[in-house]
Amino acid sequence: MRELRIAAVGDVHLDESMRGRYRERLGDLADHADVLLLAGDLTRHGTIEEARVVADEFRDLPVPVVAVLGNHDHHSDVPAEIAALLKSVGITVLHDDSVVLDIDGVRLGVVGGKGFGGGYAGKCASDFGEPEIKAFVGHTKRIAERWRVALKELQADRKVVLSHYSPVKDTLEGEPLEIYPFLGSYLLAEAVDGEGADLIIHGHAHAGTEKGETPGGVRVRNVALPVLKRAYGLYCL
Ligand SMILES: [Fe+2]
Ligand SMILES: [Fe+2]
Repeated sequence: MRELRIAAVGDVHLDESMRGRYRERLGDLADHADVLLLAGDLTRHGTIEEARVVADEFRDLPVPVVAVLGNHDHHSDVPAEIAALLKSVGITVLHDDSVVLDIDGVRLGVVGGKGFGGGYAGKCASDFGEPEIKAFVGHTKRIAERWRVALKELQADRKVVLSHYSPVKDTLEGEPLEIYPFLGSYLLAEAVDGEGADLIIHGHAHAGTEKGETPGGVRVRNVALPVLKRAYGLYCL
């Protein structure tokens, strides 16, 4: 089976002032990659105006583009409109579901969604007490369960999980410990480890580290632009 080349970046945080500037860094994308994954926080404040810039920077590229939204993309309360706008220019936007791409006869399955926080095993929020805490933890639990089901049902030769929030602590190294519960949740890694995948891509942790691994041994890569310091990371499967 042919090797797949996955390009990925997150936290590009585009706005009108950056129009045209990201696209010029993608000129050689087709020489290096089979697909481009966008790991959320594509805008600064989640406005439609900013999303139009994102759509124009990533439309009509020579490889398929698959995206998830991040917390910033939710800030103006129009995430569905942003997703629809990106879809209208041919970008696949995942919302706790999956897509299968045929790349020269190899089926690449991508399960994706925003993810959410809660913290990591032994140091995490629990489903106890006030309704607000239960809602917070419940949001992550429901997402993790949807990813588990999507991975279980996925018919693909290679499986990638695309998230905004981090499933592991490894890739948060460099961030203050105090904010770890707002950067991700071990429940996301648990879901992926239960069903298996070849790679997890995430963003959100701007001061984190690129490389990590789930307890089950799945490769994790933090592709937040301030971490990568390059237009995209490249990962081979
Ligand atoms: Fe971000
Ligand atoms: Fe974020």
